[in-house]
Amino acid sequence: MPYAHITGWGMSVPSKVLTNDDISKMVETNDEWIRDRTGIRERRIAEERQSSASLGAEAAIEALKIADLLPTDLDLIICSTSTPEHIFPATACIIQDKIGANKAGAFDLSAACSGFIYGLNMGAQAIRSGSSKNVLVIGTETLSRFVNWKDRNTCILFGDGAGAFVLQASEQPGGTYGAVMHSDGSGGDLLSIPAGGSRNPMSELTLRTGMHFIHMDGKEVFRFATRVMAGATNEAVEKSGWTLDALDLIVPHQANLRIIEAAARGLKMPMDKFMVNLDRYGNTSTASIPIATVEAVQQGKLRPGDKVVFVGFGAGLTWGALAAEWTGPRQATRRVVKPGLFPWIAPIRSFLRRLGRLIEGIIFGRKA
Ligand code: UT7
Repeated sequence: MPYAHITGWGMSVPSKVLTNDDISKMVETNDEWIRDRTGIRERRIAEERQSSASLGAEAAIEALKIADLLPTDLDLIICSTSTPEHIFPATACIIQDKIGANKAGAFDLSAACSGFIYGLNMGAQAIRSGSSKNVLVIGTETLSRFVNWKDRNTCILFGDGAGAFVLQASEQPGGTYGAVMHSDGSGGDLLSIPAGGSRNPMSELTLRTGMHFIHMDGKEVFRFATRVMAGATNEAVEKSGWTLDALDLIVPHQANLRIIEAAARGLKMPMDKFMVNLDRYGNTSTASIPIATVEAVQQGKLRPGDKVVFVGFGAGLTWGALAAEWTGPRQATRRVVKPGLFPWIAPIRSFLRRLGRLIEGIIFGRKA
């Protein structure tokens, strides 16, 4: 059975920064309260031209560059997002077209902030079963489009961004090990966007009552998170046949510093074993774990051979963890066509396919 190695990683965040002081001009809050209660100092906000697909595609290309793969080498794209471009088509398909991954299947996965863990586990299982060789897993969000900027309970928390991993099959032991995925739908109402789906389609009423925004019972979500983080980490470690003291790093979902500190206490592990970067990005939901991982690698906190656990929780309710031995980048091959060229080539290919469809329609008529 092949192993699923993480051979590429990338991130993309908007350049526009929104500080706590900026938010204090919009709602009754202040920098000190936000820092004390969450650890967040600032977050990134997407420009109008940016979207979950554009950020996701940029992160994907960065990950492919490190893995030394072309988009055309991919068999599968899994895009985890709670802020998709549309209900359908899937954001994964829009990214597939943007990067020119013309041999890949593509679908979206909805498990809120736990989505990247779920996606990584699904991607790894596709490799271990032999059905895929090269899988791209993306976590991308533009939460700023769903935040009620008049609600101080939620608007201080969230930010925009994307991260991506490339998973590759290899006979060499390593890569992903034990993983757990959990859910408890009885807590679905604690964190939701009530309108816009088939239960409450968008209407004048849903707009007037703000049902298209993020609604959250912060205290309850906090309690749930502090309960499950340590447990899920322990489960993934046990499933891998490891012990906690063998871990080099834990990359937790970046929601609130106090939640991460509670997990550290629960696991009896020092805080320096936890990657934290929520002070600069806030909670980017499913993108937070891959973004924190990319920065951990850049800062030398995650090196080839290290044992790492990714652990997250979120709406659903969902939670999960995945243990991995960090592989590091593959040896680069010398080739003329590089992954970075694809965002330029792919739109031409996409245009030609649309044109072909139009010409076919004219020649054969609508009945063909
Ligand atoms: O990916 C998962 C996403 N969600 C989460 O992870 C959320 C988890 N929950 C949390 O992070 C925390 O519950 C919050 C940061 C949302 C809130 O912190 P808290 O310590 O649970 O505050 P609280 O809701 O208990 O509110 C304490 C006080 C209240 O005032 P009173 O009733 O004690 O007078 C709030 O009205 O703080 C007030 N408050 C604020 N004050 C200034 C609530 N939000 C703010 C604010 N600025 N932004």
